[in-house]
Amino acid sequence: MSTSENNATITTDSVKSPVADKRVIVTGAAGGIGAALATELIARGARVVLADLSPAVTDTAAALTASAHAWVGDVSSVDGIADLISFADDHLGGVDMYFANAGIIGPAGLGDSDGDWDAIIDVNLRAHIRAAQALIPRWQKSGSGYFVATASAAGLLTQIGSAAYSVTKHASVGFAEWLSLTYRDDGIRASVIAPMGVDTDLLRASDSDGPAQSAVTEAGTVLTPSVVANVALDAVEVEQFLILPHPEVLDMYRMKGSDYDRWLKGMSRYQNRLNEATRLNEETTHAGND
Ligand SMILES: NC(=O)c1ccc[n+]([C@@H]2O[C@H](COP(=O)([O-])OP(=O)(O)OC[C@H]3O[C@@H](n4cnc5c(N)ncnc54)[C@H](O)[C@@H]3O)[C@@H](O)[C@H]2O)c1
Repeated sequence: MSTSENNATITTDSVKSPVADKRVIVTGAAGGIGAALATELIARGARVVLADLSPAVTDTAAALTASAHAWVGDVSSVDGIADLISFADDHLGGVDMYFANAGIIGPAGLGDSDGDWDAIIDVNLRAHIRAAQALIPRWQKSGSGYFVATASAAGLLTQIGSAAYSVTKHASVGFAEWLSLTYRDDGIRASVIAPMGVDTDLLRASDSDGPAQSAVTEAGTVLTPSVVANVALDAVEVEQFLILPHPEVLDMYRMKGSDYDRWLKGMSRYQNRLNEATRLNEETTHAGND
């Protein structure tokens, strides 16, 4: 952490992070980006509830300090969120920051059913809306609060091979954007984290989607969760809205905005190349098995 004094930059570990002493909930924190965010928050002095459907979150929290608490449950349901916030009230004395990070990859292609879409809309979008509905009125009263959504570069560009992931991540960016401008004068802040590939279970689970995974791993460096968490917390400390752990996403986003049709044609050509590579790969695998 650095500070400027008399035109000199002094670097000192003794400067307190703006997140120090904050009472924070991180969802989807059993592993991956959520566990890394919780680790980084604690390193900067925050007190954290790690929430996840997976009971493994208990071990993740236990491996951190005594300021980490684990909550197991569904962060996409209204009842789950109410229970999680009440748990944080009991263990931390309140909630200053909420990291809506839990996410799922959802169905490939268009998906086959309403059920496929309901599941991903619940986790990747409604979970954010429901948490905000529970927290914003409290934060308006106290005059501060911070909502951080983990969306994806797929929320600014698109996710080749997965409509539901693309759509829900766009919606998550839109929701965070709306929160940010609507409650700014109430002292409430929002940020959105929009990485490309990160080395986690979610990325590995998209393996079966063929082009969807190649699109992520080929487009840029696959980062570690801790790099993403570090970049994200540095940005949150200065209340930056759009957090891009892969800075090149900004160029891609600008290219899209400057000529939408050209961008769409380019993405379509890129998708065709990925489909062809997947087909050749499958042929080689089948030939090897014969
Ligand atoms: N890995 C990537 O390449 C990548 C890129 C961009 C954005 N993201 C986003 O980052 C976020 C974190 O994902 P990750 O990559 O760390 O993957 P991950 O699978 O390691 O983490 C997601 C966690 O969310 C939890 N979860 C899912 N549904 C839940 C629910 N209803 N209630 C509580 N917990 C639930 C899972 O159990 C899991 O632990 C997601 O929103 C994802 O979309 C990931």
